[in-house]
Amino acid sequence: MTFLLVIITIRLDEFDLFYAGGISVSYFNHYFQMKESDIAEYVQERISFFDGEAGLTCEKIGGSDLNHVFRLSDAGGRSVIVKQAGEEARADRIRIESSMLKIQESLCPGMVPRLYDYNEVMRAIIMEDMSDYTVLRTGLLAHKTYPQFAEQITSFLSRSLLMTSDIVMDHREKKRLAAAFANPELCDITENLVLGEPVMDYRNRNDIFPPVRDYVEKHIYKDEALRAELAALRFRFMNFPQALIHGNLNTDSVFINQKRSFVFNPEFAFFGPAGYDMGTVIAGIFSAWANGNAVIEDPEEKRSFCGWCMCTVLEIIDLFPDKFSSLYDEKKTDPLADSPAFKEQWIHGILADTAGYAGAECLRRVIGMDHSEETASIADPKKRADAEMILLAFGKNLILNRDRFLTSSDYYQAMTGAIRAVEPDNSLCGDAMSILDYDTVNLDDYNHALVIIDQTKLPSRIEVLSLTGQEEIWEAIKTLRVRGAPAIGVTAGMGIYLAAREIAARLAAEGMADHDVLTFEAFYKEYLKASEYLNSSRPTAVNLSWALRRMDQVVQDRKDQPISSIVRALHDEALEIRDEDVRVCRMIGKYGLTLVKPGDGLLTHCNAGKLAAIRYGTATAPMYLGHEQGYNFKIYCDETRPLLQGARLTSFELSSAGMDVTLLCDNMSSALMREGKINAVFTGCDRVAANGDTVNKIGTSLAALAAKRYGVPFYIAAPTSTIDMSLSCGDQIVIEHRDGREVTDMWYETPMAPDNISVFNPAFDVTDADLITGIVTEFGIAYPPYEESLKEIFAKKEVYKAVEQIVKAMEIAGKSIDD
Ligand code: MRU
Repeated sequence: MTFLLVIITIRLDEFDLFYAGGISVSYFNHYFQMKESDIAEYVQERISFFDGEAGLTCEKIGGSDLNHVFRLSDAGGRSVIVKQAGEEARADRIRIESSMLKIQESLCPGMVPRLYDYNEVMRAIIMEDMSDYTVLRTGLLAHKTYPQFAEQITSFLSRSLLMTSDIVMDHREKKRLAAAFANPELCDITENLVLGEPVMDYRNRNDIFPPVRDYVEKHIYKDEALRAELAALRFRFMNFPQALIHGNLNTDSVFINQKRSFVFNPEFAFFGPAGYDMGTVIAGIFSAWANGNAVIEDPEEKRSFCGWCMCTVLEIIDLFPDKFSSLYDEKKTDPLADSPAFKEQWIHGILADTAGYAGAECLRRVIGMDHSEETASIADPKKRADAEMILLAFGKNLILNRDRFLTSSDYYQAMTGAIRAVEPDNSLCGDAMSILDYDTVNLDDYNHALVIIDQTKLPSRIEVLSLTGQEEIWEAIKTLRVRGAPAIGVTAGMGIYLAAREIAARLAAEGMADHDVLTFEAFYKEYLKASEYLNSSRPTAVNLSWALRRMDQVVQDRKDQPISSIVRALHDEALEIRDEDVRVCRMIGKYGLTLVKPGDGLLTHCNAGKLAAIRYGTATAPMYLGHEQGYNFKIYCDETRPLLQGARLTSFELSSAGMDVTLLCDNMSSALMREGKINAVFTGCDRVAANGDTVNKIGTSLAALAAKRYGVPFYIAAPTSTIDMSLSCGDQIVIEHRDGREVTDMWYETPMAPDNISVFNPAFDVTDADLITGIVTEFGIAYPPYEESLKEIFAKKEVYKAVEQIVKAMEIAGKSIDD
């Protein structure tokens, strides 16, 4: 409709009409909120899409104070969507949405709805009608699956995120574009709703489902570390314009069918951390899992829907880095982006952000004013509470440990871990796990607990214990629920971190300032007491005191920092001790493998396997690595009286790994050696003195004597953390003596020895250095004379440490080793 009249502006209804004499003037020259009756004219005036106005029908399909959405259709079934910002909304909103749709259409053609028109005055866009497609959230709530989604969304994400980053864009252009996408109002929503309020109800509007309220109050709001990490994510969101992100890529922002998907609703777009979009997608899919798990009755349907959700998360994590990396190589324009180390760091950063923001999204779906339908629609309160607790457990883990989420298996562990923490018997977590799938020792940040396998129950029952109190942890070491030198070291690290956390919380509750000399003194006094207590649990394995000394150094180095930072650093150091163990054991395995050949018969004593460490073990590391490479070893395990670590643990874990294992009593190995069936012996150690004398499980020295007699090489697998250079010889090592009932009663229904018989029950013996062919460490193999070769090993360690420090410093300065 146009008007040919004299110039006069009149007020008619709720909008202005502008009459221009002799000039053709549009009815839509000033903003007003359109009604259904305006839409046909509006569309006809703006675009040539329909043949004529006749037969067009309009329906309003969505509306709020912020947006009004209409569908205009003709009789032949062609249609468009008109979206207009409401009077309350800022004009920016629609401008940003239309600019983003244009950019995304050019970067990811066919993956966003087509934009036909943008009108700044009317704050309206006309775009492709996607009503043949389903909104992903609607589809997921109906438990539909979309086999192409992971593939499609990772293509969309890698293109849209890489192409709008400085890796590809001209830096000046990117800054100009970033200014046009400042989007302060909608960013403010995210910064509060997602990256603030879930850990602190500072606007007093958080609405929490009553059954999870107690948990949220105790374990989310009061978790200092979590708050610090969410703060880091929030400030990164505000200050890291890495790429033009969609900003709200939840399942409401995707149209989908079995073949295609389209991303829409990009009104939150701005330049921020690329991982935000990935994280939002992952949280959306895992929330759908939580809904399916709670609501679907039919076990087959549940398995298939939830299985799809889980696999989609894993596929996204698998596919994204590869696609992003190839596109990076193809499209990079920045000269420094050429560095492979930088590229790796860039992608790692995005993956860590992905985990962090996925975690934040999971929390905000449970805690906040805006509950997501996936859980809010679950009618059964117990099931809803479980679903919310699973999201909280997963979310917390993702936020706190985001740097560790690099692969799909990290996500698998985290998802199944969160599910099992809330629903231990949930059958959707895959087949029954083998002993190799369990962590020997780990930290549960969700419940602030040390998690161990109770090794006293193996092999008949795999029982996982969650320990929080210091007495419990002390008892677990003392009674060998957790045992083996490296595992004891990791336990000590995690145990003292938990103690520190508890002390800090107590002092805070008493009103002591977080950052104050007096607080530090009070904290340190109690910390030392806890450390001494843990150290008293077992005397022989040096890893216990070694780990506690290392943790103590962390505290000493940070005397001047707030207690909360000290506690956080202790947490990280404990995890580093654990991660380091994996690297160390692998290196021992590599060196050890050079000493044997395929088909060899290998004897081991006690358990120096995965169950005594984190992965690979020490003495068993060459066996695991050789097994991976098809060496077909024949492994012989001493049963190891009196506590049977060889029978119960080593033969259990090695046979679970598929190795050829034969069990023998402790008095049988010399017979095998005489027959030439053993080509090498590998054992672990609890402490090695500077002269090579080695303390290990009682019976080790007997095997060494027999090996010497029959010319079989005898190797000790020793992480340098187990070598105590302060002791000149084995005589100086304190040997633990244990209760005689371990010999007389422990494995028998009735005692198998006379009452009150004297029992000799040392837990360890000294194998003299001259019986040892070589000591295999993570820095190479030491040979006699050990006084010298062990010194060389430590010199090598020092050099390695120095290089590591340089690399770390370069990383902090943003340089790579190639520079
Ligand atoms: O009493 P245990 O079971 O703790 O004794 C364990 C051993 O003797 C191991 O061989 C040793 O700790 C090395 S474990 C890698």
